[in-house]
Amino acid sequence: MPELGEVRVCVFDAYGTLFDFASATRGSGDLLDGAELDKLTALWRDKQLQYTWLRAIQERHADFWQVTGDALDFTLDTLKLDRPGLRDRLMELYLTLEAFPEVPDVLRQLKAAGKRTSILSNGSPVMLRSAVEHAGLADLIDCVLSVEEVGVYKPHPRVYQLAVDRLGIQASQISFQSSNAWDAYAASAFGMKVVWCNRYRQRKECLPGQPDFEIETLAELPAIVEAI
Ligand code: LAC
Repeated sequence: MPELGEVRVCVFDAYGTLFDFASATRGSGDLLDGAELDKLTALWRDKQLQYTWLRAIQERHADFWQVTGDALDFTLDTLKLDRPGLRDRLMELYLTLEAFPEVPDVLRQLKAAGKRTSILSNGSPVMLRSAVEHAGLADLIDCVLSVEEVGVYKPHPRVYQLAVDRLGIQASQISFQSSNAWDAYAASAFGMKVVWCNRYRQRKECLPGQPDFEIETLAELPAIVEAI
């Protein structure tokens, strides 16, 4: 079993890991049929991530609120979803995404086990604060870190370095949890311990890094952390 013994802080990716981005489209179910809803959820997310990577490579950073809106515009145009109120509703719901059901209890267990908890996310500070508060997690997350502090998106190493600097510990003392395979691999390549929460049953990446553990939901995380 890989060693997580030194881990002092559990750092979480936000979107797709703690917060269910599909809850924004589900909340617009009265304006979309089932097939539209699925396509919109997938393309919006794919485009949002592509835009973060492209902006990082071009060194033309804009915050995640703008990128999320730009990706939504592309998606609505592509899917020809020109419905009154839909764009505003989706963006509004993105500020109040639902947490995955196991999240509050998992965070409670980690804190009871003496671990600190943190978010490290592409999200802007306003977006992250809103999501954390809406999901009732404010007392369970010790530190919320946004890429806005370094002005570049994941998987740039400056983002993972931000966690090291702000938490005041070594990369190897961090257990990083992400449901995004590329994010999990990049954090591992950086030197963090990594638990890949493979909710979306993604394929293993052929990229630098190697997650230490692969789990299906975060419910499995406290046992991993406590067992060592
Ligand atoms: C985040 C995206 C990658 O929260 O899910 O950083």
